[in-house]
Order: sequence, then C-alpha cells, then structure tokens
Amino acid sequence: MPRRRNAKSGSRGVSVRVKSARGRKTSSTRWLQRQLNDPYVADAKRAGYRSRSAWKLCELDDRLKFLKSGRRILDLGAAPGGWSQVAVERCGRRDAVIAVDILPMDPITGVKILQLDMTSPDAIDRILVEAVSEVDVLLSDMAAATTGHRQTDHIRTMGLCEIATDVAKEILVPGGMMIVKVFQGGAEGQLLADLKRSFEKVRHVKPPASRKESPETYLVAEGYQKP
Ligand SMILES: C[S@@+](CC[C@H](N)C(=O)[O-])C[C@H]1O[C@@H](n2cnc3c(N)ncnc32)[C@H](O)[C@@H]1O
Repeated sequence: MPRRRNAKSGSRGVSVRVKSARGRKTSSTRWLQRQLNDPYVADAKRAGYRSRSAWKLCELDDRLKFLKSGRRILDLGAAPGGWSQVAVERCGRRDAVIAVDILPMDPITGVKILQLDMTSPDAIDRILVEAVSEVDVLLSDMAAATTGHRQTDHIRTMGLCEIATDVAKEILVPGGMMIVKVFQGGAEGQLLADLKRSFEKVRHVKPPASRKESPETYLVAEGYQKP
C-alpha cells in the first residue's frame, strides 16, 4: 500500500519558481507554482494515484479505519479516480468499489464505473439496477465546477451533498457509514441536522491533505439507523 514519502518529515523539497508568461493569468501562474511545490502532488504521482485527493482518503481511513476487506464502497464524484484507487487497494475485493461520476473515467482494475449525473432523477435507480443494491460505506467527494463566487459554489456543492445523503438513506446497510465533502459557509447546518437524525454519530473531520485555506471539510456519519 503506497505511503507518503514526505508524510513524516513534512519536507517540501526544493522550491520551484514559475516565471509569469505572456498569455498566462496571474492566478494560473500561482496555481502552477503551488502544484509544482506541493509534496502531496509529487507523492501522488510517485504512488501512481490519479489525484492529490487520494491522500485525503488515505488519511481519513488511517484515522477512522473504515476501508476493510469485504466492505462494499460507493464512491460518488469519483473522477479521475484517486479515491477509488485507494478504496479498492484497501478493500481488496473485485467489484467492491462502485465509482460514479458525471465525467468519463479511465478503468481501474476491480472498480465498476458508472458515468452518471447524480442530479438526474433516475441516478439512484441506475445505481441500484446496474451496480449494487446495498453498500457498507458511501463516499462523496462531489464538487460542482467552481464559478469563483464562493457563496454560489458553496450552495451548488451543498445541493450535491443533499443528493449524496438521499442516496445513502436508500443504499446503506444498517450500521453503514457515509463521508461527504462539504464547504463551510452556512448552509451545512441543515445537512448536519438531517444526518444526526439518521446516524448515531456525526462529526467534521478535515484531513491534513486538505489545504488549510480551503473551506472544504468532511462530514463523517457513522452507524446508519435504517427506518
Ligand atoms: C474533487 S473531484 C473528485 C476527485 C476524486 N475523489 C479523486 O480522488 O479523483 C469532484 C468530482 O465531482 C464530480 N461531479 C460534480 N458534479 C457531479 C454530478 N452532478 N454527478 C456526478 N459527479 C459530479 C466532478 O465531475 C468531479 O470529478
């Protein structure tokens, strides 16, 4: 199982400076510089993970130990596939992981992939019919494409969180668990209250790989109580 080379030392290596180029916006230069100097990006590349986000799931699971052999996992908002790679690696069973995204995704051995818009009314039925009737863990790293307007992005992503919660209520086994990405910014209080009605324990967890300046955090809901 890949581990982060820099995880213990926290080393950032040699800092790379990106010169601003004609035609490249300042924000793009800043993004490029951050990517080139981000040890999580370098480590994801080295470990063969498709996304930097893969480390967030590694860190969540190292702390909470929910990816276990024999468990079935539904990964919503899975593209390009970093979380699915980690989930299949840690659950170790063929077809233990079902990955869903609105975007196409390259195959991952052992992962069943569905290209689906989760906002479409038949999304849950398609998952139930084409992939799986029950899962032990539902993961949602779904995020709407950003507009740059913080409040709009927050509201759109909260809509996806509500959809993930509805899916969880349909598909989780009793005692099942859900992890959903939320953006702190007001509306998540309602979601928290909803989850508290259906799960024994609900808390916020922000893994170290989630950038400090990012408003994202994860809601972890354990012990699903099926009505
Ligand atoms: C932050 S990325 C997920 C990264 C992924 N966890 C990984 O490790 O590779 C968020 C994903 O949510 C997906 N998404 C956004 N809206 C969606 C929708 N309506 N239905 C399904 N997926 C959606 C995006 O296409 C995007 O791939």
